[in-house]
Amino acid sequence: MRKRMVAGNWKMNKTPREAVDLVNLLKDKIDKEDIDVVLCVPAINLIAVAESILHTNIKLGAENLHYENCGAYTGETSATMLKEIGVKYVIVGHSERRSYFKENDVIVNKKVLKAFEYGIIPIVCVGESLEEREDGITIEKIRIQVKKALKNLTDKQAESVVIAYEPIWAIGTGKHATNEQAQEICFEIRKCIGEMFGEKVSEKTRILYGGSVNGKNANELFAMPDIDGGLVGGASLKEDFANIVNADIV
Ligand code: PGA
Repeated sequence: MRKRMVAGNWKMNKTPREAVDLVNLLKDKIDKEDIDVVLCVPAINLIAVAESILHTNIKLGAENLHYENCGAYTGETSATMLKEIGVKYVIVGHSERRSYFKENDVIVNKKVLKAFEYGIIPIVCVGESLEEREDGITIEKIRIQVKKALKNLTDKQAESVVIAYEPIWAIGTGKHATNEQAQEICFEIRKCIGEMFGEKVSEKTRILYGGSVNGKNANELFAMPDIDGGLVGGASLKEDFANIVNADIV
């Protein structure tokens, strides 16, 4: 039985002070204990959020990491730094990083391996553009992204990695994938992991859906058999995030 996960992706939002206010609000509203709740926040907010979530069920996540341990990489954050302040999860390969910062599948794989080296669980994002969906190559695109991102992982790592299926056309648009569309691709992702690592492993890997998830659509999306929770952008910046965490699965 896979444990459900709801992860917030704050992107480039909230100052450290605003971050603490939001965490305090969410702490009061979240009432589910049996779910992994993760807040992936800007690097500048990690220490403040780490302190605010002490003695709660909420886990700390980062939005990015570099694949080297240290060195001349101005502006970057390493896994060693994240580890020291208690980061448990890190988003890798978000479509915004792939498109604005030219992260390719090789870089994504290096980051995934580096995160694991330091005991941080990567949340690997994959997803197709609207054009790719219309051209009928969604599954091909997703399979390539999954295969390249998970290259050279051990079975144990493949069990604990989290994949977030985020169709690019659904991110920040208010237009989420239908339950069936999301399920179809999450099923394909699990199948692909099964081909790489065996079914025993793929049955344990958590696969999230992301793209315009909110307190109203979460319960139906999360009820689909291969969807183990969500990666939430816009709605994670407000009280609605607690509704998503608290959603009763229909
Ligand atoms: P959204 O973003 O929930 O605002 O669509 C999701 C994401 O980018 O992870």
